[in-house]
Amino acid sequence: MGAGKVYLVGAGPGDPELLTVKAVRVIGEADAVVYDRLVAQSILAMIRDGVTRINVGKRADFHPVPQAEINDILIRLAGAGRSVVRLKGGDPFIFGRGSEEAAALEAAGIPYEVIPGITAAQGCAASARIPLTHRGLATGVRFVTGHRRANEPLDLDWKSLADPDTTLVIYMGLANIDEITSNLIGQGLPADTPVLAVCQGTTARELRICTLLETLPASVRGAAFSGPVLFIIGRVAGIAMERSEFNHATDAGSISSVA
Ligand SMILES: C[S@@+](CC[C@H](N)C(=O)[O-])C[C@H]1O[C@@H](n2cnc3c(N)ncnc32)[C@H](O)[C@@H]1O
Repeated sequence: MGAGKVYLVGAGPGDPELLTVKAVRVIGEADAVVYDRLVAQSILAMIRDGVTRINVGKRADFHPVPQAEINDILIRLAGAGRSVVRLKGGDPFIFGRGSEEAAALEAAGIPYEVIPGITAAQGCAASARIPLTHRGLATGVRFVTGHRRANEPLDLDWKSLADPDTTLVIYMGLANIDEITSNLIGQGLPADTPVLAVCQGTTARELRICTLLETLPASVRGAAFSGPVLFIIGRVAGIAMERSEFNHATDAGSISSVA
């Protein structure tokens, strides 16, 4: 049997209407779908009845399937001639390990295609109606991981990140927000830099906080977020702060729930 094909598909940040037309088509045509924890149920509902679905986001013991095993699953399914959709939250090539899967497929000689998705930075910013760049406020934007390996410090170039002319978007930064904040301020980013924190952006459970860098850790603790959180740090976040929806200040900063 000839090799099938793997589609590395971005599922976007949550709202199913943010899927690309191409993603909707391949999901609807797939023989097998391998998906992650962050993919919304409403997107999984687009899979045809009877199609093999494999959740690699977590097992019964709550540990995710190891990357090498995911690569093997994709190679085995496509090797058996199936059209496989690998659905990943946001964009598959932004902090999604999609590029590792692409490399494994390449090495195994399996045909594959990448279908981009709206990354959380774009989805969350759009949902809050703020730009990531804006003339006079931010000349660029950087996507940065705030996640570190167990017992290791965050390996980031804090000096270059502490640039008031650039918007900083921190993915996976919730657990290390104290360290992130103190390093940025320590390297000279003004303590009154605006920050927008978005939890479960673009979904019906979206929750946003607008605060300042110096009060970010306390604001985050007060918000008790549950679900994925993204931080947008920079002058552009101040645009959201000026809006009436954030005018109700609390101990946790200014909170806006859009649910
Ligand atoms: C492993 S990364 C995957 C990123 C994904 N590939 C993308 O392009 O958005 C997971 C992180 O993305 C961010 N994230 C993903 N979806 C989000 C959402 N709907 N709202 C807020 N943050 C989100 C969070 O920072 C989360 O910890």
